[in-house]
Order: sequence, then structure tokens, then C-alpha cells
Amino acid sequence: MVSRYRGAGSSAPVLYRRCLKPLLFHLDPETAHRLLLLSAPVLGRLPRICFPRPRRAPRSVAGISFPGPVGLAAGFDKTGELYPFLSRLGFGFIECGTFTWEEQAGNPRPRIFRYPAQRALVNRMGFNNPGARRARANLLRSLSRGRPVPLGINIGKSKNAADQDAADDLNRTIEVLHDLADYLVINVSSPNTPGLRAFQAVHRLRALLEAILPRIEKPLFVKLAPDLTPEETAELIPMLEKRVAGLILTNTSTDYSLLPDAPIQEGGISGQPLFEKSTQMLRFVHSRCSLPVIASGGVMDEARARAKMEAGAALLQVYTGFIYEGPLFAARLHRALLESLDPDRAGGN
Ligand SMILES: Cc1cc2nc3c(=O)[nH]c(=O)nc-3n(C[C@H](O)[C@H](O)[C@H](O)COP(=O)(O)O)c2cc1C
Repeated sequence: MVSRYRGAGSSAPVLYRRCLKPLLFHLDPETAHRLLLLSAPVLGRLPRICFPRPRRAPRSVAGISFPGPVGLAAGFDKTGELYPFLSRLGFGFIECGTFTWEEQAGNPRPRIFRYPAQRALVNRMGFNNPGARRARANLLRSLSRGRPVPLGINIGKSKNAADQDAADDLNRTIEVLHDLADYLVINVSSPNTPGLRAFQAVHRLRALLEAILPRIEKPLFVKLAPDLTPEETAELIPMLEKRVAGLILTNTSTDYSLLPDAPIQEGGISGQPLFEKSTQMLRFVHSRCSLPVIASGGVMDEARARAKMEAGAALLQVYTGFIYEGPLFAARLHRALLESLDPDRAGGN
């Protein structure tokens, strides 16, 4: 199946491919990201004409109305400051975070690695974020400029919180951020917080959800790892169906066989090599589970976006594709999905 997509190189706009991307890829990934953060106040105030004209492919998932199915995955806006800019780039929704209760510096740098030949990234960021209270202040400032698309808030356990205190730690974050979110995500699948993925065991996740659900009135999604076995996944489904509004499939993978000919860096693999693995899990879950799934993992072009939708995704998220394909990537995917849904609407809005 992979071969269907192989060689479908970048079709990003020439300006991005020839000018901006070489410049950004010349910098180390975090410096490039820092540059974006520093430009955020200006970028968020650019007039409407500078942004792509949104193409509407609205859909309702978990009771939320999304203007389009392609969203930005968690981890790009880790401070809550980029929403005003990102929300105007043609995304159907933006997920911020992961936020933790405590402010965290994350792992030492370097902690993001590009694999251009494989169109992949490996990251071991480790939930660097300003902590829930400062994230709230940032998000309030961001949202004071409007809420053009739904905002997902992704939260996780603080690194310093002991496992038995995980629910209390999450509840503190929920209390502070809950009212700002259109939907919430519990991230139990990052490979970069020691022991976090063990919360995906059915008895531990059930206990965690039971302890936080009384505080939550918004739709709650759980984000899972692509490295769960089909047996582990099957065991989780009936428990999750009773408790949450939907799933996000998937986070990054620690299956290093996905990058066979490359020097391995410890961390989570994202981008093209993750596509098959995450789509297999999506297909497996969709065939057994009634919950809507937000599909994340290796959406690098229009064909892969369509394939995820065909595999049962209710919505899509992109991260690595956005890095490789540039700021108009979501607008491009929306256009392609709209054309395949209804060719008559391709030229219109
Ligand atoms: C640099 C980087 C940081 C990330 N940080 C987070 C995070 O904080 N929380 C989270 O749930 N996922 C995080 N992710 C995972 C993405 O949200 C996404 O699920 C994953 O990268 C797969 O999608 P992709 O192949 O489109 O990148 C991160 C990914 C990258 C590349």
C-alpha cells in the first residue's frame, strides 16, 4: 500500500519550496520554531487578505461544528500564543498543548530531528510548556482576538507528578483550562514522559478517566500510541466507548524499524513512515468501535488525507506535513477533500 504514495513528493507552493523552506530548514528546528513564536504577534495581526480564503467542508463531530476536517495536531502551539495566526491558515481546528500543571523545560536540546529523505521527524521534546496557569493567560489573550475555528486543549501528566497523583495533577490542569476548550484531550501516549504510556493499560486508564470525568463537561478525547498491539487496543475499546467522546489515533511511534536506513535518535517518529502504522490502527478501531476518530499520523499529501478519511476518520490532524509542505498545507488538503467529496464545489467556496 505504501508504494501507492511513494514518490508523491512535495507539491508545496514554489515560494515556500524554493525560498522559505530552505531558509527554515537551514536553521535547527527549534530555532525555526522560535522565529515563528517571535513573529506570532505580527503574523496574527496580518490583514485577512494575507490568508487563504477558507473553503468550507463543515462537519459536526462530538457535538462540535468544525468548518473543515483538517486540523493542526498538538505540539506545534505548546504555549497557546500561536492560535490567532494558526487559526487563519485554513485549518478546520487547532489543538494546543500538551499542557501540564507545572511549567516544564522539557528534555535537553537537541530534541527535534529532521529526516528529509524519509519526510519524517523524530522528537523527544518532553512536554516543554509554560504550565496550565500561564497557558490560560496566553490562551485568553489569543482568544480575545476571536475564535474562528474550534480549539482543542491537550493535557498531560506533569513529569514530576508521581503516578498515583496523576489524576490530581490532571484535575488541577482541567480546572484551569476547561472553560477555554471546545474539546479536551488526555494525552497518555507521548513516548517522551517516562512511564506515561503505561496509563494506556485498560485498568489504569479506566481509573484515571473515572477520577477526572466528574470535572469535565466538554467532549473528551483520548490520544493513543500506534505501538499498542491489536489485543491491547481491542481491550480498551469497550471501556473507552462508555466514557469518552472520541479518540485521536495516533501519537508518534517508537518503532524504529520505521526508519530502517537512518541514524536513530531516541524519541517519537512522525511523518510519512508513520502513515501505514497509524492508518492500520485507525482501520482496526473503526471496524470495532462506535467512537469518532481524529486521525493523526503521516498525512503528507492529498492522497494520504483521502486514505485516512476512507479508513474511517471523522477528522484529520497534521503536524509533520505542515512542516514539510508549508503554511498553506491545510488549505490545500481542504480543497482536495472538497473536490473528491463534491466536484461541483471545487471552484466555489
Ligand atoms: C515536534 C513534535 C512535538 C509534538 N508534541 C506533541 C504534544 O505535546 N502532544 C501531543 O499529543 N502530540 C505531540 N506530537 C505528536 C503530533 O501531535 C502528532 O500526533 C504526530 O506527530 C503524528 O502526526 P504527523 O505524522 O502529522 O506529525 C508532537 C509531534 C512533533 C513532531
